[in-house]
Amino acid sequence: MPAPMIPLRFDRLEPEEQHDRADSFYEEMTRRRSVRLFSDEPVPRHLVEQAVRTASTAPSGAHRQPWRFVLTGDPEIKRQIRIAAEEEERVNYEGGRLPDHWREALEPLGTDWHKEFLETVPWVVVIFEERFGVEPDGSRRHNFYVKESCGIAAGIFIAALHHMGLATLTHTPSPMAFLARLLGRPENERPFCMFPIGYPAEDCVVPDLRRKTLDEVMVEVGRSPSSTAR
Ligand SMILES: Cc1cc2nc3c(=O)[nH]c(=O)nc-3n(C[C@H](O)[C@H](O)[C@H](O)COP(=O)(O)O)c2cc1C
Repeated sequence: MPAPMIPLRFDRLEPEEQHDRADSFYEEMTRRRSVRLFSDEPVPRHLVEQAVRTASTAPSGAHRQPWRFVLTGDPEIKRQIRIAAEEEERVNYEGGRLPDHWREALEPLGTDWHKEFLETVPWVVVIFEERFGVEPDGSRRHNFYVKESCGIAAGIFIAALHHMGLATLTHTPSPMAFLARLLGRPENERPFCMFPIGYPAEDCVVPDLRRKTLDEVMVEVGRSPSSTAR
């Protein structure tokens, strides 16, 4: 049955404000960095909740919202996650599981199998993708574009955390099946990405990376619509 239609709530902005917002949002987002050295300073749970609420506004295939944000601040669970993540990453980095081209790609980042931050941070959030939904009677409900939907929700989550002055890392200690086991998730959920959340350590450093320019990431095809000048 179609949902009832309601008027769209849409803020039509003055052109000048549109440009101001476009520029200031870019300036804010370009300062976002992946952080791997955190302090143990506490973070109010409400902030993390708001980031999850914000992420969950993401568009999703057929509005299935096929994500579950699993949050823990429990020191023992964080310790177990660290141990299991380091076990996998040790095999990746030192056991030869990472193919050469992957190892070479990671070299500039200076990462290794140590994941101390998983215990240091006040919160760890793991986004699980719902491979399928489960109806109250136990039957399966198909989900659509699960990875695309979770990827968009993850991006909004990262942006929300950054906007509220928190730091995070997109962390994928592969393979991640241990997260479903340690966090007691049901069979229809599969780990998508892990996010340690907190404040950067005082002496935090990040690799000096160059981002692609606009010309490297965008190409226009055909004629521009009229009146596109600023
Ligand atoms: C899907 C995905 C998985 C990632 N997995 C890891 C990871 O397991 N460990 C890590 O240190 N960084 C990981 N990263 C972070 C990237 O290395 C980082 O985003 C990239 O180097 C650019 O740096 P920036 O985020 O500071 O701009 C991941 C990023 C993405 C998008």
